[in-house]
Amino acid sequence: MARVVVTRRLPEGGVDPLLAAGHDVAENEGDVAFSQPELCAAAADADAMVCLLTDRVDAEVLAAGAGRLRVVANVAVGHDNIDVAAATERGVAVCNTPGVLDETTADLAFLLILAASRLAGDAERDVRAGRWPGWGILQYLGRDVHGATLGLVGFGRIGQAVARRASGFGMNVVHHTRRDTGLPGYVATLDELLAASDVVSLHVPLTPATHHLLDADRLARLRPTAVLVNTARGPVVDEEALAEALESGRLFAAGLDVYEREPEVHPRLLAAPRTVLLPHIGSASQATRTRMARVACEGVVAVLRGDQPPNLVSAGSSTSRGDGS
Ligand code: GLV
Repeated sequence: MARVVVTRRLPEGGVDPLLAAGHDVAENEGDVAFSQPELCAAAADADAMVCLLTDRVDAEVLAAGAGRLRVVANVAVGHDNIDVAAATERGVAVCNTPGVLDETTADLAFLLILAASRLAGDAERDVRAGRWPGWGILQYLGRDVHGATLGLVGFGRIGQAVARRASGFGMNVVHHTRRDTGLPGYVATLDELLAASDVVSLHVPLTPATHHLLDADRLARLRPTAVLVNTARGPVVDEEALAEALESGRLFAAGLDVYEREPEVHPRLLAAPRTVLLPHIGSASQATRTRMARVACEGVVAVLRGDQPPNLVSAGSSTSRGDGS
């Protein structure tokens, strides 16, 4: 029987795979993230850790787990909060939750595409605040989604799920990834895609190569009528530059679910016009969050059994797999 620490409360039934395998499960009953010292202490006392994207599993946490910790499973598909290289070096396997959140996250991305294009955020805020003076032919004039070109940056499972929705809405869909997908709609360079799109939606993992992928220069390549949607990771966009583009009208609108310094939201974005802001809820449906918890726990069970689970990011040795983005 192994000791598995779960760093934050999971949806009901989420830890069932651990219990079914007979492990000793130590759950943080609170829905508040551990501090770094608490995370270190938890790692020091466990064979496995199930963590969330709010946990920074860095070299120090992994050092605290040295000698005992065998696997860290993130209840998220993105794993930029885990120092995978340090884990690999220490022989600690890393798992994530690919595949189970694609459709739910694509739904949310599409919600933002629609809401930002049609200025639903500003309009809703006005209704609630009693600022709506009654119907007017010049009010809240958004951009049509039907007939628009959607540029997807990243074309993994989530990007492709957004593409399927976009086709149903009569959009023309193009995509860019570093490697040629060979699929219809592939655009070889990011700059070309940005210049050709009415709506740009980001679906890349956060890595050193994608940090501020949309910086001031890239944002300037977008059409002034364009809409930017980010459901990937906040630091993929330079928020200061984005706020500037929205304020000056060089960008029509933005729909954001993720931020550079969560839960802090850049004050200029909070005040920016034509902006829809959501609190990182891409995968937040009851069914999907439960599935994510189970998949992460199943990864732990498999690694502790000596098997290689399908959701392995790194085996803690030279074998490693990507996240499909
Ligand atoms: C959520 O942001 C995830 O990476 O699963």
